[in-house]
Amino acid sequence: DKGTYPFYMLKEVDEQPNVMRKLAQTYLDAAGKPEIDDKLIKAMQAADRLYIVGAGTSYHAGLIGKRLFEKLTNMPTEVHVSSEFAYEQPLLSAKPFFIFLTQSGETADSREVLSNVNEAGYPSLTITNVENSTLSREANYTLLLHAGPEIAVASTKAYTAQIALEAILAKALGEDMGLAIAKDFDVRTQLGLVANGMQAIVDEKDKLEELSNDFLMDTNRAFYIGRGIDQAVSLEAALKLKEISYVQAEGFASGELKHGTIALIEKGTPVIGIITQAKTASLTRSNLQETIARGAKTMTIVRESLANDDDDLVLPDVDELLMPLLSVVPAQLLAYYTSLNKGLDVDKPRNLAKSVTVE
Ligand code: M6R
Repeated sequence: DKGTYPFYMLKEVDEQPNVMRKLAQTYLDAAGKPEIDDKLIKAMQAADRLYIVGAGTSYHAGLIGKRLFEKLTNMPTEVHVSSEFAYEQPLLSAKPFFIFLTQSGETADSREVLSNVNEAGYPSLTITNVENSTLSREANYTLLLHAGPEIAVASTKAYTAQIALEAILAKALGEDMGLAIAKDFDVRTQLGLVANGMQAIVDEKDKLEELSNDFLMDTNRAFYIGRGIDQAVSLEAALKLKEISYVQAEGFASGELKHGTIALIEKGTPVIGIITQAKTASLTRSNLQETIARGAKTMTIVRESLANDDDDLVLPDVDELLMPLLSVVPAQLLAYYTSLNKGLDVDKPRNLAKSVTVE
């Protein structure tokens, strides 16, 4: 039931602070120590490499997971699009461990990969929102997102829940390996800060609607740019804009623009910069300047400690690794308002189904 909300998507965006709190309650004890099946932890530790597999938004959550696992556990981690992996499997390490990310647990492309993985006898975990879904039943282990049903075709709270759960799992794994960086990563406190930060962003709906009006209503194309983790979020931000607002959006590595794509920038092209990582902030800012010099109309989404008075949207500060949980929220709302004010069916965009059960 969407209650007083005009569309499920908005309700699901608004639910994200509670989803963060629920995950912390479910998977962390009062002292902030992860409570995850020890057999799963040991199975992952026995591997020499993690392979994250997913489609669409779940693939994008995997791109953030890679950073979390590599930082907090030192385990090399690859991320793959399931429809590609299924038919062009890369060379695997000697002891792979597979993590399937899937909101629905039914995506055919991911099921195909899991059936190959099972045939080869490799261990696997499914992280899903749907208990007893096919991918959950067919993997060796399951962790549930507990995000509540996600009805809108555009995935929102599943993305942030997947990232939060990856963070908890990475901490559990790294801590169990005795790594100081994982021990010091206070995921419980951080998820509390994230929940409050998300609330502050969703409380700024008027501002986001205004920015959508100024930047996105009169265009059929746009760019999201960033570096590193911010580049990964820019892919998800662009996907939201494409699928529900029908704006041809590209998520791009900001440093790569000048190697060709900047030719597309002309007077009025919207370019949105995501800036949450200290080491690349000034670089992305100069890449934005390069687009301004070619006529782009730019917007910035910046974490507080890196922000200045000219920035359009300022995000509360949390651990850098968890900034995607905040930077994606304005992008979700920008896509929402652009779709809404174009009079589109936000929850059921054309040509799309909630769960894609054909390859
Ligand atoms: O249920 P899944 O997470 O496996 O679904 C994967 C994609 O189909 C899904 O994330 C899709 O990209 C969304 N519509 C994006 O908003």
